[in-house]
Amino acid sequence: MANIIAIANQKGGVGKTTTAVNLAASVAAAEKKVLLVDLDPQGNASSGLGVDKGLFTDKNIYHVLIDELSIRDAIYPTGLEFLKVCPSDNNLSGAEIELVQAIARELRLKNAFEELERSEGIKFDYIFIDCPPSLGLLTLNALTASNYYLIPLQCEYYAMEGLGQFLHTAELIRKGLNKKLQQLGIVLTMFDSRNNLSRQVVTEVKNHFKSTVFDTVIPRNVKLSESPSHGKPVLLYDISSTGSQSYLSLAQEVIKRLEGTDKVETEKQSLKPLTEESIIEDLPEIPAEILNDIGPTEQKGVEYGNS
Ligand SMILES: Nc1ncnc2c1ncn2[C@@H]1O[C@H](COP(=O)(O)OP(=O)(O)O)[C@@H](O)[C@H]1O
Ligand SMILES: [Mg+2]
Repeated sequence: MANIIAIANQKGGVGKTTTAVNLAASVAAAEKKVLLVDLDPQGNASSGLGVDKGLFTDKNIYHVLIDELSIRDAIYPTGLEFLKVCPSDNNLSGAEIELVQAIARELRLKNAFEELERSEGIKFDYIFIDCPPSLGLLTLNALTASNYYLIPLQCEYYAMEGLGQFLHTAELIRKGLNKKLQQLGIVLTMFDSRNNLSRQVVTEVKNHFKSTVFDTVIPRNVKLSESPSHGKPVLLYDISSTGSQSYLSLAQEVIKRLEGTDKVETEKQSLKPLTEESIIEDLPEIPAEILNDIGPTEQKGVEYGNS
């Protein structure tokens, strides 16, 4: 069974796509068979891996979710032998609306992965999902299909804003739709050592979330922002850069949490309620409750970006 990990945070510009692409590539560099599923209509993970979305307009994640195309037919190679990608499509923004009417709308991605698991042929050790910046049906599909979620938090003033809502939603999904769902950890991104605020955020988040936070902190590094325009993960663009080295180190931590001896410990920790303990008690286990909770959220991410 693959470890399925959603890279999620409903805020935009916090480093989800950068983390999805570079963590997937770094785990693949350790010769694990990795699939990256691009679930964001913007398709930045696809283009960041050099996939020309124009070439795959009839077989991509949109068709998997809406037309129930077998995901096996929507998987493409990348510049790394062990890394494959299931690309996104602009139409995916419409999928959020089309799915509202669909039967088992929150289970589409889960069903696709189960079919992949049952079928002959390609098997993956890790599946990463790059989620869109909202808590809509696409993110719901991702969290329903995953065993773990990993939250990138940007080292800036409002880092933890919205995190309570995200954890609350994840807990509702765990209770109602996906008992297997656990938090894998929080990764701090875009750290700037010259900036006091950046250092304060690291201290505060580590104090609050303790060992859930990965030791590796991803620095702000220009190679990380340049590499997508070359269609490459940073390790194929500049392997010696601090950005590349930090994602390789994060990959080691992820592999250790999932395959290493400290696995049980991590699982125990991640099952502890993290915040807002009181509000996540005794919620009904019905999808309707969850869906009410996750109406389309504003995409207020632009100001957090580093463009
Ligand atoms: N560690 C980093 N150093 C420099 N730029 C970064 C870093 N992480 C992300 N970026 C840049 O910040 C912007 C937002 O990152 P992105 O990964 O697309 O966020 P999200 O997917 O959460 O919206 C992008 O332009 C990206 O290249
Ligand atoms: Mg993104």
